[in-house]
Amino acid sequence: MAMADFFSVEFMRDILAAHNTTNRLLKPPLFHPKRNDFIPQLKVQEHCSFLYNSDQQNNTDVSMENPIKNIDDVMTLTQADMEKVNSHLKSQLNSDVVLINQIAAYIINNGGKRLRPVLHVLLAQALGYQGDEHINLAAVIELIHTATLLHDDVVDESEMRRGEKTSHEIWGNSASVLVGDFLYSKSFQMMVKADSMRVMKILSDATNKISEGEVQQLLNIGNLEISEADYFQIIANKTAKLFEAACELAGVIAGKGDETIKELGQFGMFLGTAFQIADDVLDYTADDESLGKNLGDDFNEGKLTLPLIFLLKNGTQAQQQTISQAIEHPELADFEAIKNMVIQTEAIEYTLGQAQNYSNKAKRSLNVINDSKAKSGLEFVCDYAWKRTV
Ligand code: IPE
Ligand code: IPE
Ligand code: MG
Ligand code: MG
Repeated sequence: MAMADFFSVEFMRDILAAHNTTNRLLKPPLFHPKRNDFIPQLKVQEHCSFLYNSDQQNNTDVSMENPIKNIDDVMTLTQADMEKVNSHLKSQLNSDVVLINQIAAYIINNGGKRLRPVLHVLLAQALGYQGDEHINLAAVIELIHTATLLHDDVVDESEMRRGEKTSHEIWGNSASVLVGDFLYSKSFQMMVKADSMRVMKILSDATNKISEGEVQQLLNIGNLEISEADYFQIIANKTAKLFEAACELAGVIAGKGDETIKELGQFGMFLGTAFQIADDVLDYTADDESLGKNLGDDFNEGKLTLPLIFLLKNGTQAQQQTISQAIEHPELADFEAIKNMVIQTEAIEYTLGQAQNYSNKAKRSLNVINDSKAKSGLEFVCDYAWKRTV
């Protein structure tokens, strides 16, 4: 595909079609959000499950100019480092308290895309970094992410994560929250090993902002007045901040100047924003089996994400009323009906358009880096962040 076609209306239509073909609109959900009697047997592939996605959409060329043609190529670039990151991660999780090991191993061995550590490692490569600090820092970043997931699933009352029952569904909320705390504090023990105040500051600021974002989100549950600006503030804090930290840290260990580090942070912020917007679309459009999470978690929690915020402002009066009633009376709400309504409007196209804008901004921030295969990998990840189906 030529670059000129890449941002065309036709291309956007293809992306939307790919999203829609993954929907199972006519079939009952595989795992209804509030049903507790079916444990899905699927297993998300360990280590970078997204890299194994057979879906053509995630594996097709995005640009003739990019030598990185699919996500497997990104995997090849980072494989050696990511194997070290994974073994380091596992070696750090040995507590005398058996329950801690059980829960930590459960969530970490269930895989996940490892996108944040992959980014950190790829960026370190692109900057020509020669040391081994990136292995420990990548593990720290993934551990912080894992801790937020344990807490987030309790708060969101989510029942499925990485293709398995969530930890709190098995061990209960208290155990999940406490082991989340264990993982946070473990990550701080590990980051101290970097012996750098700057590293400590970036990571402690990011962790603090993530908590702020999650609380801001909680305060906006059921808030039909939530603005786009509020939404973007929340996702910047709860999600993009950790991407920002992962990218800034690569600049720090590679000894780059303040201006470059700031630009790398911007890259992470834009990319993380695109990634979360896409996540919010997937909560309506994905195939829950391949996503490894139940669709409708956001809606069922009264969380108004960009597709609904768009419709509340731009939808017909009937659409606005349907959403308001569903949010105000969750006991009467039918997610399947809401989902079908959302998909049939321009809400998804608009929201994915926003994600694409952030992805393009992220690409522009990469101008501070010299061309290399690793940089091409980073450009590919920018596209993946908003086009992904998992
Ligand atoms: C989930 O992140 C939380 C969000 C910020 C959307 P990921 O989609 O990266 O989750 P895993 O690690 O791959 O499971
Ligand atoms: C991301 O938001 C939460 C964190 C940053 C921890 P979501 O609540 O949308 O993430 P998922 O969908 O549960 O993975
Ligand atoms: Mg959640
Ligand atoms: Mg989500």
